[in-house]
Amino acid sequence: MRKKIIAGNWKMNKNHNEAVELINSLKSGIDTDKSDVVVCVPYVDLLSVKEAIKDTNISLGAQNMHFEDAGAYTGEISAPMLKEIGVKYVVLGHSERRAYFGETDETVNKKVIKALQSDLIPILCVGESLEERELNITMEVVRIQVKKALANVSKEDAKKVVIAYEPIWAIGTGKVATKEQAEEVCKEIRTVIEECYGKEVADVLRIQYGGSVTGDSANELFNMPNIDGGLVGGASLKDDFIKVVNY
Ligand code: 13P
Repeated sequence: MRKKIIAGNWKMNKNHNEAVELINSLKSGIDTDKSDVVVCVPYVDLLSVKEAIKDTNISLGAQNMHFEDAGAYTGEISAPMLKEIGVKYVVLGHSERRAYFGETDETVNKKVIKALQSDLIPILCVGESLEERELNITMEVVRIQVKKALANVSKEDAKKVVIAYEPIWAIGTGKVATKEQAEEVCKEIRTVIEECYGKEVADVLRIQYGGSVTGDSANELFNMPNIDGGLVGGASLKDDFIKVVNY
C-alpha cells in the first residue's frame, strides 16, 4: 500500500515573511497521518519555512537544483547546499523550467541522478502539451520523458523517486484533468516503470497528479488507483491546501 504524497509547489510566490505567515495559518489544520506532506518553497524561504514547520511532520522541498556539487554556475543552487539546510524533496523538470529555462530531458536526468546521490528525493515532473494531447501522442510523450529522466538510475534508487504527471494544459488554467484522464496517464507511467524496473518497483513508486488541483477536485483524483497524491500550485498558497491535504 503506497502512502499518498501531497506537495505544494509555491513557484515564485511568498517572500520569507509571507512564507512563515502562510505556514502558520496552514500547519495546525494539516493532517500528516494519511499522507506525506511537502512544501516546495522558493530558495530564500527555505530556512524560515524549515523553522516554521519544525514542530510538524511537514517536509521541506525545493523547486530546482543544479546537477554539479559546486562551481562557477552563477545564480545556481546545488544538491549539497539543499541537503545541508534540511531539504528532503526537490522538484525536477517542471514544465515551467522546461519551457522558460531550457531544461531538457538530458539535464533533468543529470539532476535526478545527482539528487539521488545526495539523498534528496526527486519529484520528477512529466506531462504533455495541449497540442500533443490533441495529436493523440500523450502516452508516447510521457513514456519518453520518464525513460529519459530515469536513464542510468538503479532499481533501488528508482523506488525512491516520485513522479508528478502534470499535463501542461491543466497547469494554472483552472482546467483540471478528469479523474479518468489523470488515471489513464498515471497508469501508463506505472506500466513504463514496470517495463524498466519490474513489478516490485512499479508497486512502490509514487505517482502524483498536478494541474489545477483544488480542495474540490482532490478527493476524486486521489482516490484513483494509480494516483498517489498531488503536486499543487495555486491552491497550495491558501487555506484550500488544508482541504486538498485532508481530502
Ligand atoms: P496549479 O495547481 O496552479 O495548476 O499548478 C500546478 C503545478 O504546476 C504544480 O507544480
